[in-house]
Amino acid sequence: MIDKIEKLRRRVEEFRPKAAAEIEEFRIMILGKKGELNELMEQFRTVAPELKREVGQALNVVKNFAMERIDELKEAHGRPQEKAAADDLTRPGTADVLGSRHPIATVMNEMCAIFARMGYTVADGPEIEDDWHVFGALNFAPDHPARDMQDTFFIDKNSDEILLRTHTSSIQVRVMETQKPPIRVVCPGRVFRNEAISARSHCIFHQVEGLYVDEGVSFADLKQSILYFAKEFFGERATIRLRPSYFPFTEPSAEVDVSCQLCGGKGCNVCKHTGWLEIMGCGMVDPNVLEACGIDSKKYSGFAFGMGVERTTMLKYGIKDIRLFFENDVRFLRQFESAI
Ligand code: DAH
Repeated sequence: MIDKIEKLRRRVEEFRPKAAAEIEEFRIMILGKKGELNELMEQFRTVAPELKREVGQALNVVKNFAMERIDELKEAHGRPQEKAAADDLTRPGTADVLGSRHPIATVMNEMCAIFARMGYTVADGPEIEDDWHVFGALNFAPDHPARDMQDTFFIDKNSDEILLRTHTSSIQVRVMETQKPPIRVVCPGRVFRNEAISARSHCIFHQVEGLYVDEGVSFADLKQSILYFAKEFFGERATIRLRPSYFPFTEPSAEVDVSCQLCGGKGCNVCKHTGWLEIMGCGMVDPNVLEACGIDSKKYSGFAFGMGVERTTMLKYGIKDIRLFFENDVRFLRQFESAI
């Protein structure tokens, strides 16, 4: 009997399966109901009482050994069902969660891309600026209300020289100071104003500025460029109108309205029943500004424009509260996943 048990142990030890299916066959042969181990158990009954202890122990040892060994082999060959599942090419994949571009970045990129198609390049400038680039060179009189503490964040409380730019027009000054005409740039950027935060205004927002300086640039060029932009951005049916306005750095100056895309110009809540929405300020660069930046105003003329990105994004996507852009709530941001 002990001999038989030892032979069985050796067979288990020497078993080398070639495929996972062989292991299960082997298990049934050894450990199954009608397997060899049970056969030995049957024979155990007939073992002489004085040998029962020794044989019983040997049987237990070989049984445990066989079970462990078979488990080990199964582990090494991988479970048959799992393997099949891993090979199943029709199984649905696990999708990676991708981030999305912020709607402000998407719209800013789109604005720049439209002007790039008209030959504009993108220019950049610092957010912390000096008085000259934000106001002085742009023809702001020393006592202009926009220089007032209420509008501008100053960096040093003892000086009004260094400040956070209140508009991206500061970039056009930097470009004109360093480049010679023809100049054609768009300047996207973040701007800061000391204003109370509400659903319609924020102390941080974004603008896209444009500047075109060359010989013989006219107001007609300005109007045509803005009309092209409006049709590209809002759709072919968009029309514009210009209303006279005032900016220290342009003369003449105008405010641009685009026909309301929600009601098609008939009048609705969004356009306050006027059929028009204000989208930007613009004008012919004041000769004083050209001269302040070292450009001969007798030879060259130019136009400039500036628009708020948040406002336009709110119109485009029907967003009612400007604060949503700055909260970074992923439930809000995820809605723009499909935007380019
Ligand atoms: N800087 C103006 C603002 O922040 C916007 C603007 C108006 C920019 C007219 C221009 C312009 O370049 O010509 O309100």
